[in-house]
Amino acid sequence: MRNSDILARRSQAIPAGLVSHAPIFVDRADNDELWDVDGRRYIDFAAGIAVVNTGHRHPRVIARVEEQLRRFTHTSIQVCQYESYVTVAERLNALTPTRKPSKTVLFSTGAEAIENAVKIARIATGRTAIVSFAGAFHGRTLMALALTGKVTPYKLRLGTLSSDVHHLPFPMELHGISDEQSIAALDSLLRTTIAPDQLAAIVVEPVQGEGGFYPASATLLKHLRKLCDQTGALLVVDEIQTGFARTGRMFALEASGVQADLMTMAKGLAGGFPLSAVTGPADVMDKVPAGRFGGTYAGSPIACAAALGVLDTIEEENLTERANEIGDRILALLDPLVRSNAGSVIGEIRRIGAMVAIEFVTDRDSNAPNAAMAQAVVKHALKAGLVVITCGLFGNVVRILTPLTIRFDVLEEGVRILEKSILGALSDRD
Ligand SMILES: Cc1ncc(COP(=O)(O)O)c(C=O)c1O
Repeated sequence: MRNSDILARRSQAIPAGLVSHAPIFVDRADNDELWDVDGRRYIDFAAGIAVVNTGHRHPRVIARVEEQLRRFTHTSIQVCQYESYVTVAERLNALTPTRKPSKTVLFSTGAEAIENAVKIARIATGRTAIVSFAGAFHGRTLMALALTGKVTPYKLRLGTLSSDVHHLPFPMELHGISDEQSIAALDSLLRTTIAPDQLAAIVVEPVQGEGGFYPASATLLKHLRKLCDQTGALLVVDEIQTGFARTGRMFALEASGVQADLMTMAKGLAGGFPLSAVTGPADVMDKVPAGRFGGTYAGSPIACAAALGVLDTIEEENLTERANEIGDRILALLDPLVRSNAGSVIGEIRRIGAMVAIEFVTDRDSNAPNAAMAQAVVKHALKAGLVVITCGLFGNVVRILTPLTIRFDVLEEGVRILEKSILGALSDRD
């Protein structure tokens, strides 16, 4: 079957609400490359949305999974247990910047981890109010959507998602929102809307992912930490997109020196197998009564096996350092373009480790978002054999999320395609 044949079947079989970036169907993938069913090769600058940090089918991950497949595939941790779940928990307890001793509970998706972090915070504090940020993305289940700070397309026509969830502006220097403004909005919220002793948690991404790769400064994170300490609320740090070496550290939060109360993780944790986690101090995690955690597939043995392969690979291949080198190389390669006349529509290039975002604007004076340009760039790129996707509260950001194992010659080839795509999109416009 060819792409065009399967596309026709797709439109009959699958509802329009599921949108796919690329009108192609993948046949196979290896490290930093994909091939579609028509035999066409693509360089992968999306990594399944920051999931295959260790590349497609890393041999160490596949060996662990194959070994697990030969023994058993599923028992449900709530029925008969397996050691790998405990080992993954031990590894995350040791790795995360959370108060020790920590404990970890596993789920399947990022949204589930977020839902459970809210559950833990509400049960442990006996309070209900949750603060999150404009532009944040925390998932597509109803509570995760309540925390998500973007209406279109995620929250339209769903009614009141959850009471007692409040959004603060997230600092975006380019658009004139400073740390001070976010902090003032939080102070005001605690004076006007939420009694400080009713605040259960503040949920924050250390770098907004879907929101556009805007980093939270150490100043903001330290302020949130202090406020949580003063009020008894929990600081929930969502590392679902930023975790597992992506930002040049195991977790992005480490750069601030701040400790989380609860940390949510998913995506890069298991290299493409569905696994998510919440880690937090044992005394907080143990406040949740027996039977309140779980899920039929939560902490699947296959995903746990994969996660152990991923964690070993990050360590053994020093992928935190490699993430920094990838980011350095992308910036160096893009530099001449930014200095050329294409620079007139690039508002900013943000870079945290290997997370690189190019924000497109209509002009440098207004910095008004230019979503059409970002859309045109990724379309040009796909035609030229590069999978790269957009993000941003205004949809005007192209984000680079390569596998952290990407070969440097393939990285350069991909950036060159991206460069040509930006120039192509510019000339379409003219
Ligand atoms: C920061 C963040 N939190 C939560 C989620 C939701 O994860 P999932 O799609 O696995 O439910 C995402 C997904 O993009 C994310 O980037």
